Amino acid sequence: MDKFIIQGGTPLCGQVRVSGSKNATLPIMAASILSCGEVILNEVPQLEDITVMSEALELLGAAVKREKDTLIIDGRSVSNCALPEHISRRMRASNLLMGALLGRFGQAKVAFPGGCAIGSRPMDLHIKGFRSLGYDISEGYGFLEGQAANIHGQEILLDIPSVGATENIMMAASMVPGTTIIRNAAREPEIVDLQNFINRMGAKIKGAGLDTIRIEGVKRLGGVEHTVIPDRIEAGTYMVAAAISGGDIWITDALFEHLQPIIAKLMEIGIEIIPWSEGLRVVGRGCRYLPTDIKTMPYPGFPTDMQPQMMALLSTVSGTSVIVETIFENRFMHVQELRRMGADIKVEGRVAIIKGNHLEGATVEASDLRAGAALVLAGLGAWGETQVLGLDHIDRGYENMHQKLQQLGAAITRKSV
Ligand code: UD1
Repeated sequence: MDKFIIQGGTPLCGQVRVSGSKNATLPIMAASILSCGEVILNEVPQLEDITVMSEALELLGAAVKREKDTLIIDGRSVSNCALPEHISRRMRASNLLMGALLGRFGQAKVAFPGGCAIGSRPMDLHIKGFRSLGYDISEGYGFLEGQAANIHGQEILLDIPSVGATENIMMAASMVPGTTIIRNAAREPEIVDLQNFINRMGAKIKGAGLDTIRIEGVKRLGGVEHTVIPDRIEAGTYMVAAAISGGDIWITDALFEHLQPIIAKLMEIGIEIIPWSEGLRVVGRGCRYLPTDIKTMPYPGFPTDMQPQMMALLSTVSGTSVIVETIFENRFMHVQELRRMGADIKVEGRVAIIKGNHLEGATVEASDLRAGAALVLAGLGAWGETQVLGLDHIDRGYENMHQKLQQLGAAITRKSV
């Protein structure tokens, strides 16, 4: 077990590069088994979740090889359509293999990944989608099992624009005869990347990025080389790092277009954001910040995956800010840890009321991935020393976080406990 030790108060400066997106890579890795050829993925981040997905693919029989930031996946040898429970328990995104296995083999058995610290995270919308397409889905003994029955294209209306359900249905429908239409689809950039990837393999999918996605089933998908989009949440986290430390940093490969909801809020607070040919410059130095209100929403609204990081920042901004979390029912686990650092935050249901003041270093523990990121950011902006425990959560989603922050001049070290 490792911990971060952070001496707060150093304004960050310099340049940092964003890694490939974790949340784009995971569904793309799952979708790679739709292919009857070899898949080459570039800009794949070195993260715990990616390792778990690689292991899952190998357990199904695929050959997975990593060469630096490139992953080569050969799904031709997949022979097993049942994913063991111990893998599903290690990573929620393993549920994306359900759509991929159904799409390629017409059968799948995947353990329910269950809830997690931030909420119950059911799969009812995924199941409804599979059933509409004509897959027989049975639930029981902690497993979800599916079999192609009378599969054909169908119109599917999602009750809420779930990212995972949209991705799973896209994969399951890619080779289903006829036309499938997903209405109220999630519009996240990661969905667009998945569409681009599957289309390069030969699929006919249109509309990702809008609320209606149209899929014409094809007979077969082939091999492809694809470069994953940059991680907008990692970019947003480093933007907040610059803001909370009063720094001035250049973020290479941060895509302005994907970051608009985050940029808009940071600018409202008073941070200067300047697009540049290779990414974005974020200037927090010398600004007097203003409090703000944030409501998390599906894309293009403000992302729930940036809510804890923004709460860390707003905890240091004089005045009263309000954050409403509408996506996950239990995503305020970082509040009690921020309070240890002196944050004045009151929570009523899904609403957090934050009265900004200065934070002081303390020993805190990450309860989940983004909560962990928020605590690191709070440490960068706090007076004195902060120790962050629970790094296994942070390792799931941030590649070389402490090295990247060190590169920006942060006084952060990683030590074994
Ligand atoms: C994905 C992201 C996660 C992000 C989330 C919301 C990945 C690997 N993970 O998670 O980082 O926080 O989008 O942007 O890409 N829901 C149902 N029934 C369902 C499915 C979802 O009620 O069948 C609910 C969930 O409980 C949640 C909301 O819909 O309240 C959004 O969930 P969803 O968009 O599906 O998130 P994930 O795909 O799990």
